[in-house]
Amino acid sequence: HGTSRINKNGHLEIGGVDTVEIVEQFGTPVYVYDIALIRERARGFKETFDRLGINAQVAYASKAFSTVAMVQLVDQEGLSLDVVSGGELYTALAADFPVERIHFHGNNKSLEELEMAIEHQIGCIVVDNFYELELLTSVCEMKQAKAKILLRVTPGIEAHTHDYILTGQEDSKFGFDLQNGQAASAVKMALESNHLDLLGLHCHIGSQIFDTTGFILAARKIFTKLNEWKNEFGFESTVLNLGGGFGIRYTKEDDPIAPSQYVEEIIKEVKAQANAFSMTVPEIWIEPGRSLVGDAGTTLYKIGSRKDVPNVRKYLAVDGGMSDNIRPALYEAKYEAILANRPLDEVEETVSIAGKCCESGDMLIWDLPLPKAENNDILAVFCTGAYGYSMANNYNRIPRPPVVFVENGLAHLVVRRETFEDIVRFDLSLSQKVNN
Ligand code: LLP
Repeated sequence: HGTSRINKNGHLEIGGVDTVEIVEQFGTPVYVYDIALIRERARGFKETFDRLGINAQVAYASKAFSTVAMVQLVDQEGLSLDVVSGGELYTALAADFPVERIHFHGNNKSLEELEMAIEHQIGCIVVDNFYELELLTSVCEMKQAKAKILLRVTPGIEAHTHDYILTGQEDSKFGFDLQNGQAASAVKMALESNHLDLLGLHCHIGSQIFDTTGFILAARKIFTKLNEWKNEFGFESTVLNLGGGFGIRYTKEDDPIAPSQYVEEIIKEVKAQANAFSMTVPEIWIEPGRSLVGDAGTTLYKIGSRKDVPNVRKYLAVDGGMSDNIRPALYEAKYEAILANRPLDEVEETVSIAGKCCESGDMLIWDLPLPKAENNDILAVFCTGAYGYSMANNYNRIPRPPVVFVENGLAHLVVRRETFEDIVRFDLSLSQKVNN
């Protein structure tokens, strides 16, 4: 998919660049991103809104994969940016991302983070709870500023996905409960404040969702409340942000609808609801993360050791693992992979791909059909673009891999490989006396 294909050398090629050459140049493991595919996805979302005549903001959820170069790419494509921490905000500022298109999320933003957001006059703060409503008000008072906000509500939807990545249900750490009056009080408080400019509501029902049922139910619940609040407080939501969560195809078993179809069906429902309640159709904002970058990322590893447990399983180890992709260990996430240096060779065995971390749970793929792989073959694991690099860690003091963007036959290093010096960079020796 995307620009991935098998080239005349019989190797996997991405963005017009031979993966064998990428490995020679940058080593393994390495994250490779198909930039044309990210652009195509970004344009797909925007075009759907344009075509249906809806004012919209497509905010890339940068938690999925945030680096300065990625943020610059998001800017080039004219998307907005969702950040969830001071670190992601700092990355956006370092990339000179237009502040008015930054949206700030999070269920426990610190005073410092809110001050940073206000000082830089970012476009919108998505307020999650009463504590934050007060904290933000006091920051605005101090800085004599007025903040544009959305209120995050929890609509009480159970999206069908893995428990750990489900966020819209009632028993969730996120957002004001829509049903029990919390959201209504928050709206009232925001409307009464001189320091808050309430643009509208936000909800995010979960991640890796394959259809639009949950989005549609959430929109209906929200409109029912909007109608009450219109009558009670005279409040009309100019923005409705329905979050992200559009699923992608990691393996053949996954069956998501097309990205534009999510948007089309959501728009249809929002229009219908607005009409039913005689409201102006609000701006619709979405926050795709995974669906913009997930299938654009491929991780290349070198195959190393092998262990056969006769009649049970063949283990093949690669030179990375849960340190660069924690999703299999954390969510039992499934991936597909091929040998990048000889993708056309006949499948000869079923192997399980182990990582190199000192932990039995560090398995990347169970039961993968492969040609007889040897030491130094290159394994390409697909769809690692979302929550791979961004959740990478230094477990076992393994340096994080580099990130390479490929496009039009050119490879561009956008994050360099960590070194062993990086690993000890923050360490202080016992003999060093340091204040703070
Ligand atoms: N907006 C909000 C408020 C979110 O909480 C999230 C994801 C998104 C947007 C983007 O969702 P996406 O379009 O990427 O599904 N680490 C997990 C995913 C956690 C998602 C957290 N929130 C994983 O690796 O699957």
